[in-house]
Amino acid sequence: MIADRVGRIQPSFTLEMTARAADLRNNGVDVINLGVGEPDFNTPANIREAASRAMADGHTKYTPGRGTLELRKAIVTKLKRDNKLDYTPDQIVVSNGAKHSLSTLCQAVINPGDEVIIFTPYWVSYPEFVRLADGIPVTVSTIANDNFTPNWSDLEAKVSSRTSAVIVNSPSNPTGAVWDDSTVNRILSLAVEHNWIVISDECYERLVYDSPFHSIESINDVGANVLTIQSLSKTYAMTGWRIGYTAGDVDIISAMAKIQGQTTSCPNSIGQKAAVEALIGDQSEVEAMCKIFSQRRDSMIDRLNAIDNLSCSRPGGAFYAFPDIRHYLGLSANGKIVDSSFALSDYILDTARTVTVAGSGFGSEGHIRLSYATDEAVFLEGIDLLEEALKKMS
Ligand SMILES: Cc1ncc(COP(=O)(O)O)c(C=O)c1O
Repeated sequence: MIADRVGRIQPSFTLEMTARAADLRNNGVDVINLGVGEPDFNTPANIREAASRAMADGHTKYTPGRGTLELRKAIVTKLKRDNKLDYTPDQIVVSNGAKHSLSTLCQAVINPGDEVIIFTPYWVSYPEFVRLADGIPVTVSTIANDNFTPNWSDLEAKVSSRTSAVIVNSPSNPTGAVWDDSTVNRILSLAVEHNWIVISDECYERLVYDSPFHSIESINDVGANVLTIQSLSKTYAMTGWRIGYTAGDVDIISAMAKIQGQTTSCPNSIGQKAAVEALIGDQSEVEAMCKIFSQRRDSMIDRLNAIDNLSCSRPGGAFYAFPDIRHYLGLSANGKIVDSSFALSDYILDTARTVTVAGSGFGSEGHIRLSYATDEAVFLEGIDLLEEALKKMS
């Protein structure tokens, strides 16, 4: 017997694509994986060494459910240093990655029937976090050629008396778009007017290339209730360590800690020690990785825009390109009409042995996502093959 709630959620689309690529590889196909959602770099040595020391020194036991005081103090220092934010350790809860932070936060603040605004294209897990908390995800469109900023009239039309929260993800997965302050300010004002909680997923905040990143809370002059979520995963190439955190209102943070105390007990003790070193130790490798991502972004975007009938805006952050592929939908390939981004992605995998992720998985038909968290020569080869595959469509 499986509970109804399982039937209400979708499996992780991006993890499924990764599994599919692995299957093909196991069958001997030399797959080029541009579906990846994690840095290709190893975790910096100083962080790995801190973890080894932690193990040798016996930091192998349960920690407080909300994370060690040492780590929460390191997070406070980091939030001040990088984001100009003032928090105290009791306003922080550490979780097993930002994904866990987000799902626990949804459990803590959403009541059955509450509506949560999510902008399309969205990171695949947001609607499912809301559904698992018995809430209702309400999707609002964005304007692709205006940096994927909200379609304000659609937002206005979707607001109801049940709307209780809005999720903002800048820089965004899948688009890489970084919203400007005026867009964020407009969301903050609406949040105050309608009494919404603002859930700010800032998982990619250190991977921003053109102008300094402003954490939403740092420009929150109107007093909106902002919960800031950040992660060690992308910034420090620590996806497998599973450390993320939430900063915000003390009552909400305590509610999250209470849930964690009855679900996971605490975040991994070795990971927490490593996270302290990551956050307050030497930051030079972060800067070096960021520089490489920035160069790769330009290389990927320029190459994509050189393909006929395909266009891609230059994203300000993260490590994804999200080109518009609408021209190719409705054309045929291998005797079949390619009628969706999923069908195109499938065709590219079959013909160009290159993994991309269909826009439909992010609630946005008409685009595909390519990641540049992989070697430049590799992704350029993948795009060459992709271009040849597109040329064969008619
Ligand atoms: C937008 C966004 N938020 C959150 C996460 C979760 O990151 P983690 O749980 O590894 O901290 C991801 C991972 O892909 C993401 O893309």
